[in-house]
Amino acid sequence: MGLRIAVIGVSYLGAVHAVGLATWGHQVIGLDIDQAKVDSLNKGRAPIAEPGLELALRRQLDSGRLRFTTDYADITDFADVHFIAVGTPAAADGSADLSQVQAVVDRLAPALRRSCLIVGKSTVPVGSAAELQRRVTQLAPVGAMAEVAWNPEFLREGQALADTLAPDRLVWGVASETASARLRQVYARPIADGVPVIETDLATAEIVKVAANAFLATKISFINALSQLCQATGADVVKVANALGRDPRIGRAFLDAGPGFGGGCLPKDIAALAKRADQLGAPRLAELVRSVQAINQSQRDWIGQLALVCLGGSAPGKKVAVLGASFKPGTDDTRDSPALAVATSLAESGAEVRVYDPAARVDRSGLTQTDTLEQALLDADLVCHLTDWPVFAQLDPARLTGPRNKILLDARLKLDRPTWEEAGWTVIQPGRPWPTGPGR
Ligand code: UGA
Repeated sequence: MGLRIAVIGVSYLGAVHAVGLATWGHQVIGLDIDQAKVDSLNKGRAPIAEPGLELALRRQLDSGRLRFTTDYADITDFADVHFIAVGTPAAADGSADLSQVQAVVDRLAPALRRSCLIVGKSTVPVGSAAELQRRVTQLAPVGAMAEVAWNPEFLREGQALADTLAPDRLVWGVASETASARLRQVYARPIADGVPVIETDLATAEIVKVAANAFLATKISFINALSQLCQATGADVVKVANALGRDPRIGRAFLDAGPGFGGGCLPKDIAALAKRADQLGAPRLAELVRSVQAINQSQRDWIGQLALVCLGGSAPGKKVAVLGASFKPGTDDTRDSPALAVATSLAESGAEVRVYDPAARVDRSGLTQTDTLEQALLDADLVCHLTDWPVFAQLDPARLTGPRNKILLDARLKLDRPTWEEAGWTVIQPGRPWPTGPGR
């Protein structure tokens, strides 16, 4: 028997979660204060481009198990479980801004008509869940027992629905057996499929989420720092990563060197972790995380400098074709995109920069977006591969006749160098042995 569940905040995380819950047979109402978003979701239009999401959304709307509203009155008397999935953006000082989560609790708690479980999904600094429990207890009316649990989400952009329906683990922090039993009902389907559950206290669950992102970011910065060492010595960072990855204690994932990590999660979450670690007297952790951030920034700068070297040391009057704008392939998200950071630095140095991306819109001043790859390549003095969309790896370099100079800076190290070299290109791959030519 399905539960009655509300999901509050139906942007990226919440929309996918609501669809996932309905797919598992629950009755779900998604709530958002944005009327336009609610209207479009009710019409079967997903707020974000994610493989399979729109189809799954329409299927669940048609099943009658899923609908969206802006009215809290629709959920306060309805739900056994309220998930909170609103944003926790970065505040000006880098810490997490929890005002949206607090606003939800302030609206929801006094209006509750029945006992329920309130489950946080948003990424928050450790200690937030306990604080919210105090707030809920103060605000909830007599007779409406509301317990807070925390159940972080590990989905990746571009694979959000698949990650939600078949996660590699379920993690939650609870303070009672009742909450535990309720969450087991919510996730009965994936648990029956064999997904492991890690049940813990509130603080541990909060930390698991940010620690996972910090560890992934650390792996990337580690390999990127090594790529600079490889560059200096003529070693090959890809071979180093492959050899490291063979050790099952290390693993090959997240050891792809490149222009660094971006997106709406890793950079924001590790900045907030550093702040929280400072506040709670864990300065060594803050220091480690800040090194990870610093390497990430220096990697972007380094790729920009290499591009300048490829242009002969001077950018004004030169044309650069940039392949890729999104922060990673498979998404149209350009938040904190390393590709756009490097492209912007080249434009600021005076180059004419044309960006082609199969999905993302580019709205940065100084950059020109092209509709086709050919338009970006026309008369280019340098081609920079900055986001590793599979379509770029499938290009036949022998047929690319538009560029003025056949110089490729493959910052993602994903293009097949021999094929490009056979077609007459000089290929620079940061952290791999250089050919003759620029920088030597
Ligand atoms: C990340 C985490 O991977 C998810 O587990 C987490 O749930 C999510 O944040 C979140 O907190 O919501 P996502 O932001 O979709 O997911 O992006 P990732 O796939 O982690 O990639 C992040 C960045 O690292 C991208 O810019 C990517 O190009 C870069 N990257 C990744 C590398 O430079 N090298 C690698 O080896 C792997």
